[in-house]
Amino acid sequence: MTDPADQDALKAELLAVALEAARRAGELLRDGRPDDLGVAATKSSAVDVVTEMDIASEKLITAFLADRRPADGVLGEEGASFEGSSGVQWVIDPIDGTVNYLYGRPDWAVSIAARLTAGDGETLVGVVHAPVRGETFRAVLGQGAFLDDKPVRVRPAPPFAQALIGTGFGYVAERRARQAAVVRELLPRVRDIRRGGSAAIDLCDVAAGRLDAYYERGLNPWDFAAGDLVAREAGALTGGRPGEALSTELTVAGPPGLFEPLQAFLDEHGAWHD
Ligand code: IPD
Repeated sequence: MTDPADQDALKAELLAVALEAARRAGELLRDGRPDDLGVAATKSSAVDVVTEMDIASEKLITAFLADRRPADGVLGEEGASFEGSSGVQWVIDPIDGTVNYLYGRPDWAVSIAARLTAGDGETLVGVVHAPVRGETFRAVLGQGAFLDDKPVRVRPAPPFAQALIGTGFGYVAERRARQAAVVRELLPRVRDIRRGGSAAIDLCDVAAGRLDAYYERGLNPWDFAAGDLVAREAGALTGGRPGEALSTELTVAGPPGLFEPLQAFLDEHGAWHD
C-alpha cells in the first residue's frame, strides 16, 4: 500500500478494531475474574501459568478480528496463529501480566498490535488496555501516543544515577539467576528498579514518564509489539543489543540520552544471554 491516504485509512480502521477488541476482552476479564482462578496449564516452567481467562480472552479477540478483518493473520500468545492474505498480522497478548491477574493485582493488560507482514514487519497500531487501572494506551505509526485522549511523552533523560528503571524476569530458573546478576550490578548505579509484572504496561509507563527506562531479556512479540510502538511514538528509543532491533534476545526502551548508556551497560553486563 503506497498511497498515504490509503495507509491513513487502513491505520484508522485497524486502530478502531484494536480498541474495540481490547475493550471487549478487558470487560470479559475484569467482570469474569473468579476469586479462585483456574490455572488451565503451565508453559515454560511451573510458574509460567495460563489461566482459563487467558484462553477465553484470546478466543474473544480472534473471533472479533475474524468478523471485522477476516483476511488478516494472527499471532497470539496462547496458540492462535495463522497467516492471512491481506498483508496485516495481529499480534495479541490476551493478558499481559497473567500472574498479576491471578493474584488480583491491578497491573495487567490486553495488548493488541497490528503490523505489516511485508518488509520489516512495521507495526502500524498498538493498543494496551489496562482495565483495572482504567487506562488505555494507544499509538498509530507517525501519529503519536496517547493515554486515553491525552498525548503522552517520555520524561527527558535524567543522569544515569537518577534513573528509575523497570525490568522483568523470565519464568525459567536459570534465566532468572542471570537476570538477578545483572540487576545486582545495575541497582547500586541508578535511582531504583521496578518490577511491575507486565512488559506491555512497563513500555507504556516509559511512554508516560512513569519510568525513565525499561529493559528485559526473553520477551515475545506479543509482550512488546504494542508497547514498543506506544513508547516510540512517545519519543523513546527502543532496541536490543547496540545496533540491533528489539527482539526476544533483549528489549530496551528509554529517552535519547539514557537509552544509549543503558543499552551499553546491559550489553557489557551480558543482559542478552542466559
Ligand atoms: C509476562 C509479563 C512480565 C514479563 C514476562 C512476560 P505474560 O507476560 O510481561 O512482566 O516479565 O517476561 O512473559 O506471561 O504475563 O503474558
